[in-house]
Amino acid sequence: MEMIKIFDTTLRDGEQSPGASMNTEEKVRLALQLEKLGVDVIEAGFAAASPGDFEAISRIGEVVKNSTICSLSRALTKDIEIAANALRNAKHKRIHTFIATSKIHMEYKLKMKEDEVLKRACEAVKLARSLCEDVEFSCEDACRSDVGFLKEIALAVIEAGASTLNLPDTVGYRIPSELGSLIKEMKECVGDRAILSVHCHNDLGLAVANSLEGIKNGARQLECTINGLGERAGNTALEEIVMILKTRQDIFKGLDTRINTKEIYASSKLVSDITGIRPQPNKAIVGKNAFSHESGIHQDGMLKNRETYEIMKASDIGIIESDGLVLGKHSGRAAFRDKLASLGFVDISQEALDKAFAEFKILCDKKKEVYDEDLRSIMSAESISIPQVFELVSLQIGNCSNGVPHAAICIQKDGDKCVDAAIGNGSVDAILKTIDRISGYNGVLKDYKVEAVSEGKDALARVVVKVEFDPNKPALIGHGLHLDTMFATAKAYLGALNSYLAMKELIKHKNMGV
Ligand code: KIV
Ligand code: ZN
Repeated sequence: MEMIKIFDTTLRDGEQSPGASMNTEEKVRLALQLEKLGVDVIEAGFAAASPGDFEAISRIGEVVKNSTICSLSRALTKDIEIAANALRNAKHKRIHTFIATSKIHMEYKLKMKEDEVLKRACEAVKLARSLCEDVEFSCEDACRSDVGFLKEIALAVIEAGASTLNLPDTVGYRIPSELGSLIKEMKECVGDRAILSVHCHNDLGLAVANSLEGIKNGARQLECTINGLGERAGNTALEEIVMILKTRQDIFKGLDTRINTKEIYASSKLVSDITGIRPQPNKAIVGKNAFSHESGIHQDGMLKNRETYEIMKASDIGIIESDGLVLGKHSGRAAFRDKLASLGFVDISQEALDKAFAEFKILCDKKKEVYDEDLRSIMSAESISIPQVFELVSLQIGNCSNGVPHAAICIQKDGDKCVDAAIGNGSVDAILKTIDRISGYNGVLKDYKVEAVSEGKDALARVVVKVEFDPNKPALIGHGLHLDTMFATAKAYLGALNSYLAMKELIKHKNMGV
């Protein structure tokens, strides 16, 4: 079998998706899941972009052992040195440097001529290679670049030390036959001197089809993201490309990946829980409806022979069928642990288990039946470990159709309880204003999402907010899970505030050289 390297850029290009920013803890959790999934290269961020990215890459480099950790860097000395520094503790590391090669980018964005771009690219690769064995070079907007220039720069950067040459369709412009021809021509030029890589954007909905054509024509690295997250319309979806290669072995004979497909669902779920961005229900492979059959004719066919309407099994991507057991207030610790194991939560520390069990018991007092989705959400909320500077103690809201919406909140900070109240344009506004008054920080709510975790009128509410506390810093995501939507809102907002304080603390330490 010839291996296709899977290069996951959920933490870098995926994070560039509107509303998808993640904090360091979340990035580390996701990187560990990507390692479990069997990803060859994890692009963990763009180290020079922010102290948060630098910190996340460093931490991921310390904990992930089986995947190569990569940092993006422009073709600039400073960026490359920062990338090398962020990767210093990684067991397997890669510097990924890039510069644009299309006429439009060189003329208007870079204001550089071809020869200057070529020189800059070679210098960047040489420097990166002096700091790291494994160097990838990308010709940004390769698919709109002059092929003659692409060949010239490809040979030069390989000579300078790049072992992977990536040819991105940065604006998602190409159709499969065109992309295939480009990769074929570049493969003839480069031969086996470097691994050719494809990185496709989905602006015309062709990212996956284009990536496949790249593989057919000689590319041996695929750049992709979980759930197809990414700039604008997103990137090639990892789960789609991997399942195509697996399901259509008749066409892609002899080609394989290291991906453990049974970890696909867990990876997709983690990305959507962290970012609050759910795949559309009819999304291939990981959408809610991807394996459900509504029509009577289909259901009948399925009962007679699953293969009448199913080309893959839900279990292939790790969807564990519910064992039908619903937990409730009389369920003990052993039943709880067994249930978690049946949902795939096996390597849980005693501390995490105790915390989750306590949450479960609180929930049981309020809710008759606790469903699998409730437990998954508890587990996912429990593993977020940002220091809780501000903690919600209690919340009261008052609002009736002709009244003045108001909130009274008690928050704990450093062991002290502070209580205050405010009025607002609706309950959410009153809650956020009250928290601002107590904390002394003024957040601007950029996004607010609420969804029911499971079925029934008493379903848990999951709220995801995106809040900007400083116009010069990225907005931060906060999550809240509670039976009461307004309580979940307050928890989510405080979560974003706690993430902001953790980020400020980090920047302070960095500036002090700690
Ligand atoms: O789309 C693109 O061109 C990129 C490069 C930086 C690799 O993301
Ligand atoms: Zn990209």
